[in-house]
Amino acid sequence: MKKIKFITITIIINLLLSSCGSTPMANEIGTNTVAQKPSATAEEAPQSYEQSSANARIDDGRTVVGISMPDKLLERWNHDGIFLKEHFEKEGCEVILKYADNLIDTQISDIRSMIDGGADLLVITAVDGAALSSVLDKAKSQGIKIIAYDRLLMNSPSVDYYVSYDNYKVGVLQAEYVISALRLEKSSRTKTIEFVTGDPVDNNARYFYQGAVDTLMPYFENGRLSVRSNQKGFYETSTAQWSTDIAQQRLQIILNSYYPENVRLDAVLCANDSTALGATRALESDYSGKNSVVVTGQDADVANIYSIIEGKQSMTVFKALRDESVVAVALGLSILSDEAPDGELIKRSGWDFTCSYNTTDYDNGSKIIPSYLLSPITITKDNLEKELFDTGYYARNGSGLIYAVE
Ligand code: GAL
Repeated sequence: MKKIKFITITIIINLLLSSCGSTPMANEIGTNTVAQKPSATAEEAPQSYEQSSANARIDDGRTVVGISMPDKLLERWNHDGIFLKEHFEKEGCEVILKYADNLIDTQISDIRSMIDGGADLLVITAVDGAALSSVLDKAKSQGIKIIAYDRLLMNSPSVDYYVSYDNYKVGVLQAEYVISALRLEKSSRTKTIEFVTGDPVDNNARYFYQGAVDTLMPYFENGRLSVRSNQKGFYETSTAQWSTDIAQQRLQIILNSYYPENVRLDAVLCANDSTALGATRALESDYSGKNSVVVTGQDADVANIYSIIEGKQSMTVFKALRDESVVAVALGLSILSDEAPDGELIKRSGWDFTCSYNTTDYDNGSKIIPSYLLSPITITKDNLEKELFDTGYYARNGSGLIYAVE
């Protein structure tokens, strides 16, 4: 009962937001966090390093790495945590790995316990990117190094580096898929689309949204694409906690309000797989149209790989988590040995995947954070076997069940 009430309140808030006249699709975020199209990479040594080594920790002979993950309900973080832990341990580090159940206070106390536990390095994926600045500053004041993992840590000068995928490109790939699947280049009929964006406190969600909107904008402007619900803004289309249930209920309301009999919905642009799961359930239960609706996603969660095989979901954006953890561990070991890594780290790595070094685009509100960015790819029914299974990222067990290889 409580959960339903929470979901309904969240959707009412979204609708109230949308009733205040639909917000334009341009970069509405307007904060100092950039959501513009990132520019090309640039080579430059990071600034802050000398200062932090001044108050380095007493060397107790242990190398302790604190890994703070947001949540276990969202499939990928379980894999990220294991990849990072096992890899750092293989390199002789002691690892403290904690999951915050998507609760900000829990994450703050997790990080505090890692500081008290003797951490020399913190690798953090924030529940809320803007809620950790004081505990980060505390860590820094004790000479602890900090890597923002996958999601940028905001409003703190204490962050040393950022490792992630090119999040803007994720949105671009989702939109490009919609453009080709709906043949928008040649279409004479106006096609319809609805947006299911991510958790508004997740800085990545802004990049996914902006990448998609910037790429689709020409088709909104030339009238080949329209949003019947008029819910186009980042906040009014957002999904708290990336929740499958919230995404499902919001789309059910939209389908019942704006897509009655004979009104066709062509696409639902979902920012990730947990929201896509909600969207496909809503379409199954509340969409009366006969056409198969294009549904996007991200993360290649196992349930969604099945949805793609069964044709319920059209694509997902794959980000090899193992590769992302490899970059974070190499970076972590480098700064733990008092190096000041830059683009050279990539050159000397010999990695068999693409990674670029960026010192211009990731402003966390306090400073530009030197970033290592990997490149996401589009997965559809056609390239799924080759990109996910032949590469060994996924496999099938004896009874043919799919699982992510750890
Ligand atoms: C984002 C992450 C995505 C997706 C989403 C929900 O920050 O980059 O891969 O997992 O969170 O967990």
